[in-house]
Amino acid sequence: MSTSVFSIIDGSPVPGGRTAPSTNPAQLSEIVGEVSYADAATFVRAAESASKAQQTWAAVPAPMRGRAIAHIGRLIEDNADALARLLTAEIGKPYGEALGEVREIIDTCDFFLSEGRRLYGQTVPSEMPDKQLFTYRRPVGAVAVITAGNFPVAVPAWYIVPALVAGNAVVWKPAEYSAVVSAALHELFVRGGGLPDGVFNVVHADGAATFNGLQQSLESGFIHKVGFTGSSLVGREIGALAGRYLLTACLELGGKNPLVVTPSADLDLAVEGALFSGFGTAGQRCTSLGTIIAHESIHDQFLAKFTAAVAMAKVGDPTSDVLMGPLLDAKFAERFDEYLSWIQPHHTVHGVRGRITADNPRHGFVGDPSDGLYYHPVIVDGIRADDRIFGEETFGPIVGVTTYDTLSRAIELANAPGYGLSSSIYTTDPNEAFSFQSNISAGMVSINNSTSGAEAHLPFGGNGKSGNGSRQSGIWVLDQFTRWQAVNWDYSGRLQKAQMDTVELTSDQDFRL
Ligand code: UN1
Repeated sequence: MSTSVFSIIDGSPVPGGRTAPSTNPAQLSEIVGEVSYADAATFVRAAESASKAQQTWAAVPAPMRGRAIAHIGRLIEDNADALARLLTAEIGKPYGEALGEVREIIDTCDFFLSEGRRLYGQTVPSEMPDKQLFTYRRPVGAVAVITAGNFPVAVPAWYIVPALVAGNAVVWKPAEYSAVVSAALHELFVRGGGLPDGVFNVVHADGAATFNGLQQSLESGFIHKVGFTGSSLVGREIGALAGRYLLTACLELGGKNPLVVTPSADLDLAVEGALFSGFGTAGQRCTSLGTIIAHESIHDQFLAKFTAAVAMAKVGDPTSDVLMGPLLDAKFAERFDEYLSWIQPHHTVHGVRGRITADNPRHGFVGDPSDGLYYHPVIVDGIRADDRIFGEETFGPIVGVTTYDTLSRAIELANAPGYGLSSSIYTTDPNEAFSFQSNISAGMVSINNSTSGAEAHLPFGGNGKSGNGSRQSGIWVLDQFTRWQAVNWDYSGRLQKAQMDTVELTSDQDFRL
């Protein structure tokens, strides 16, 4: 069954424009939906509509906006299975993981439904009598949210839910290859929340139309915050564009996430963590494992266990119980072929490399590999610090392995690529754990847990090439979608000048015991 997907502005679909199919990467012959793409002018129209609707939305009392979030969460929970199935059909994420992703939206709604009854400000003492000081969180205005398709519903919800509860309006531009499931999420939000027209617009557009539309919207003053999840390369451009309009973008970019295995580690646990974070979601999370940094004394033992676990892992049809389904889309498969070409003669490859086909089969494959964009999970040992595979994000089922002698060298290697999203150490030595967490440059640190799978109410975000220090989720994201307003109220009936008309008590500084 194929659906038609349109941009929605002011509650109405926008017909016309170029259309293209969104296909199932696990069943390339299956068209999940026909997507109609908007131009830059349509993006601007969506931004203008959001900018107008925002004031009416902000006038809805915050606890009632929180109720809207509660209703959205409940409607999504009641539609969880259908949404997860659609997610699996459009991006090939294994169903169990897809259900987990839907759960992450519900968790986010659960967290923020009460924020409407908080959005706390402070009362602050004044340095003068008969004067009161207060702080208030004010919404930023209309927010443009541009997201990737590897988490096509949970990651957008990390922006949209707190943005709405804080009184902002939203224009969302989802990834092209996940447009159908994104359209379903948009409908669940609008219907569940009873959102007035224009409060949440969705625009399906390609990168160029989005960038131009965003630029024009910023120029016209329709957009007051930009949220972006995607590559470091595009993130730089979005951040620079927002900066020209004196806005700080909320950027959640790539990662080259290290996993350190120390001599004291429980190796079986480390293997389990490396398997899930390296090859779960076919390695296509921003939190996916990049390089394993194993102590030289346990490298061989760890690698033997890890290669055995990867060889045993179930790969194939994402509607069944597999670790790994297909790559997200043809664009990702092409890029992955390029990453494979970075493998050098000095590397030792464990596993078969390349696309899974009848001629290049995978033992125990679930289904028919010729149906979709299936790739072999591959481990590359003998990685050196100047290898491209070491320094750059390689989105897909590839994990590098290197060794270290001292923990400080392991940390140096872990920080060297200059990303800084997630990181992990497996150790039973508390000194190593503390030393790692205080010296690693990553925004997120796991101790005896994998690099991926962060809980939805801790700050999520990275440093360096992984972002500009912004954090999503939990209470921390509120600083992205509100601005502090400082209010002072003088009821003394005279002009009391700060720093000048204050009472100074006399201190005896010459006193000694
Ligand atoms: C992403 O890949 O952009 O921590 C987000 C995790 C997930 C989110 C990943 N909860 O792995």
